[in-house]
Amino acid sequence: MKKDVRKAIIAGNWKMNKTPSEAKALLAQMIPLVKDATCEVVACVPYVDLAAAVEATQGTNIKIGAENCHWAESGAFTGEISTGMLKEIGVEYVVLGHSERRQYFGETDETVNKRVKAALAAGLKPIVCVGELLWERECDITEEVVARQIKLDLFDVSEEELQNVVIAYEPVWAIGTGKTATADQAEEVCALIRATIKKLYSPAAAEGITIQYGGSMNDKNADELVGKLNVDGGLIGGASLVADKFAAIVNAASNN
Ligand code: PGA
Repeated sequence: MKKDVRKAIIAGNWKMNKTPSEAKALLAQMIPLVKDATCEVVACVPYVDLAAAVEATQGTNIKIGAENCHWAESGAFTGEISTGMLKEIGVEYVVLGHSERRQYFGETDETVNKRVKAALAAGLKPIVCVGELLWERECDITEEVVARQIKLDLFDVSEEELQNVVIAYEPVWAIGTGKTATADQAEEVCALIRATIKKLYSPAAAEGITIQYGGSMNDKNADELVGKLNVDGGLIGGASLVADKFAAIVNAASNN
């Protein structure tokens, strides 16, 4: 039923892994394994791998994404990459507001919002990451934390622009820890995000938006997670670096 109204997206988040030649080799392994997917397949790779990744996936069903972008068109921002630079080489998606960016690089909801707006204006599709810390879950404020992030990160984003936004619910305590949220926990928060979108936009916007789960999703637990009504695929870290594991997750999403 949910497949009628929105598409599942399985996106790999390679983080700081793989050189350009390693990226080409990994994508070459993945291409035949995911070619029949009925969900969208994306690989978000390090900046220096992007050109090689776009070239290696030309004519296939794998789309390429970056792992961040800056909000300014150009200027004195040493070390940053603009949306125009990404667009020109054929990048389609960009991960924004990942918890590692928030935790280690001082990103805030305000800067995430600026990046989201810049990405949308450039025609990129942002994958906006939200999620609570363990401490926040223990204090029973997951709902407030996630709703607040959604409101701030999407501030001033129109309903039309929202059609190009993907949300990834990534509980911070589940990322890279091997501790996956249970399918029920993932479903509960993804449903809450959808309810927040409904309040901020409209029932149609809420029904149409893709909301992924991320955090130790792998070939073993993907089927149960993506089987949930409000979980539309996943943002995959560790398991996206192994072709057959990533393909198994893609197939799980294709079958649900
Ligand atoms: P993980 O990472 O799958 O390795 O937990 C997910 C993410 O950070 O997007």
